[in-house]
Amino acid sequence: MKVGDKTYRTVDFDNGTIFLIDQNALPFKFRIIRSNTYLETCHHIKTMTVRGAGAIGATAGFAMAQAALQAPQQSYLEFINEAKKQIAATRPTAQNLFYALEKTYNSALISPQEAVKTAVEIADNDANQCQKIGMFGQELISTGCNILTHCNAGWLAFVDYGSALSPIYLANRNNKQIHVWVDETRPRGQGARLTSWELMNENVPHTIIADNSSAFLMQQGKVNMVIVGADRIAANGDTANKIGTLEKAIAAKYYNIPFYVAAPSSTFDIECKNGEDINIEYRDPEEVLYTHGLSHNRNPARVLSSNPGAKALNPAFDVTPAELISGFITEKGIINPDRTSIGILKISQ
Ligand code: MRU
Repeated sequence: MKVGDKTYRTVDFDNGTIFLIDQNALPFKFRIIRSNTYLETCHHIKTMTVRGAGAIGATAGFAMAQAALQAPQQSYLEFINEAKKQIAATRPTAQNLFYALEKTYNSALISPQEAVKTAVEIADNDANQCQKIGMFGQELISTGCNILTHCNAGWLAFVDYGSALSPIYLANRNNKQIHVWVDETRPRGQGARLTSWELMNENVPHTIIADNSSAFLMQQGKVNMVIVGADRIAANGDTANKIGTLEKAIAAKYYNIPFYVAAPSSTFDIECKNGEDINIEYRDPEEVLYTHGLSHNRNPARVLSSNPGAKALNPAFDVTPAELISGFITEKGIINPDRTSIGILKISQ
């Protein structure tokens, strides 16, 4: 996607170096960070310089390729095994990370060059699949539609295009006169910071709302459909996505509003029988207690925005049961949230 006149990918790789759009600096500053070693890359995944299922998947693949390139010849296997462990330990929920890691590791067993080739293919596929998600998804969007989205499942969450936002970009380019309600997405504000930044860049009309406003807007008839992304989808269609997604799905069901999940097949995990098997990440409680932003003199600031000394709990994801989901928008088309359709999708992957 474009920023100004230049086309960027969220994650790029050249000659052993990974280039990441620094998502912790957005929307205030657009900058690219270079990562030269797999350990540095692990740090960037953990601290969310790069985030979003597809983007951390591609980054994990490149990190594995970096490890293979870095590994000393005499202890090659030992080195790449340790790297695989470290990369797997960065973030637990997004299936794309484990999908990319496994594939690139298997290629690293052949040679570092094979690992690089596989990691590049994974990143290219991610971008292509998201573009197709846009084409299938935009057919669901009618003219004048008010779409609600949660978190950031745009191009920043993938290598390019995005999942939930890809159909929105296409519908907007096709002059469908859409408008997007953007949940701010506490505690890290991926909606208010990243989704809004992306939509503004593409001139998509949108409004940021507090996380607790969506049921009210649905009750008032101001939401026509919901499109969200996914971090892991179990074999029965139960879907892990950013914390807060579940309550949007429950409210949408109550008000009879279509609720779609957009995701490439690399997010589906058929080893996971249902939502109970999905490992939910708990992050630092300080993310809940403190707020980040710009101070009055426009310097980056972190402020305590809760009762001093209070405890906080910070689950980063929740699981939406399949029965609340109207359909999955995938690169193969729209599929039903059931075992048979997901099985067929994985076979044709
Ligand atoms: O914690 P994050 O920002 O890495 O969370 C992942 C997400 O961006 C969301 O859950 C998103 O909606 C799905 S990822 C495409």
